[in-house]
Amino acid sequence: MFVGHAFVALVDGTVGGYMHFNASPYCLPPPEQIPAAAATLLKPLGEAIPRVVKWFSTWCRLDPKEPHAHLGPIGVSPEAQGKGVGTALMNRYIEYLKQEATAGYLETDRPENVEFYKKFGFVVQHEEQLIGTPTWYLWRPRDK
Ligand SMILES: CC(C)(COP(=O)(O)OP(=O)(O)OC[C@H]1O[C@@H](n2cnc3c(N)ncnc32)[C@H](O)[C@@H]1OP(=O)(O)O)[C@@H](O)C(=O)NCCC(=O)NCCS
Repeated sequence: MFVGHAFVALVDGTVGGYMHFNASPYCLPPPEQIPAAAATLLKPLGEAIPRVVKWFSTWCRLDPKEPHAHLGPIGVSPEAQGKGVGTALMNRYIEYLKQEATAGYLETDRPENVEFYKKFGFVVQHEEQLIGTPTWYLWRPRDK
């Protein structure tokens, strides 16, 4: 989350959207950093820790071996949604994928977002229930 590329979308001078992506394999935490990250990030989650560990370790296990730029998170502030800000951020990401001739990858648990990502060439690669939540794994093949 703290390395890679991050972009903000300015709407009338204020931040209306944010997007982060990172090239594999750096989209996964290096194993030696996991204990320290777990201690600081997970501790406040209390009883939810086993579920969060299951969720995150499943995402890590399913992360494609093929080179890709991993998108996430992307978010547009509620008052700025539906005005093309998300599209502008996605277009910047797609520009990067084309420049680097690499594939795109992301996970989402929101069915309406699956449709949003499909507009940018993503296809559902895998779908499953994870910690009681439907989860979609989407892949955008590299442009030939
Ligand atoms: C998903 C999100 C980033 C889209 O950004 P946005 O600025 O609202 O999207 P845009 O205005 O560029 O919309 C682009 C198109 O996608 C559609 N769309 C966008 N969000 C949609 C949604 N949640 N459900 C259905 N359609 C959606 C729009 O109708 C539009 O369609 P059109 O091109 O046919 O007109 C934004 O809704 C958001 O931040 N949601 C909350 C956080 C979130 O879910 N993040 C992603 C986690 S995986």
